[in-house]
Amino acid sequence: MCEKIALAPEIERILIGPEEIQKRIIELGKTISHDYKGEEIILVCILKGAFLFTSDLCRAIEVPQKMDFMAVSSYGDSTQSSGIVKIEKDLSESIENKHVLIVEDIIDSGLTLSYIQKILRDRNPASIKVCVLCNKPSNLQQHVKVDYCGFLLEDEFVVGYGLDFKGYLRNLPYIGVVKSEFR
Ligand code: PRP
Repeated sequence: MCEKIALAPEIERILIGPEEIQKRIIELGKTISHDYKGEEIILVCILKGAFLFTSDLCRAIEVPQKMDFMAVSSYGDSTQSSGIVKIEKDLSESIENKHVLIVEDIIDSGLTLSYIQKILRDRNPASIKVCVLCNKPSNLQQHVKVDYCGFLLEDEFVVGYGLDFKGYLRNLPYIGVVKSEFR
């Protein structure tokens, strides 16, 4: 069944639809389950943006797993990264000697993830890998090693499926491009 999705008024067009998102997450889950076979992992969900992606991805991963959450912010309500990553909530458990998989919604400048990787590396995990839903390399300021990537994006302002516009639109079931008059 293929129902037409009603677009939010701020959205110019759908870039990645709900079915495509889910299909890619299943593929990522299979690859991750294969790579970590016989191991246990801690999924570190980077709030707020990665909450939907993490909730679907964790169900597609078939190795023993725990979950923890970190809330960071560098954009506030702006569309430009401030360059200063603020930790609003830290992990609740130690990651020492654990296999950590950071789950993030998007890499834009790369500042957020490179900062998170640095502070988590200092806590002596057994390993750290990164799984990102969307990678937008055109704006990259800080290189980040990405182990698993859902989609490579052009330089467009996207929202939905966790990604926000001034805190709104995270609930859209698709990833869409914001109309220029709203940017
Ligand atoms: C967004 C997004 C990533 C980060 C990516 O977070 O969720 O964490 O920006 O951008 P970067 O590669 O330029 O650093 P934001 O700071 O908007 O917080 P949020 O997750 O609560 O939306």
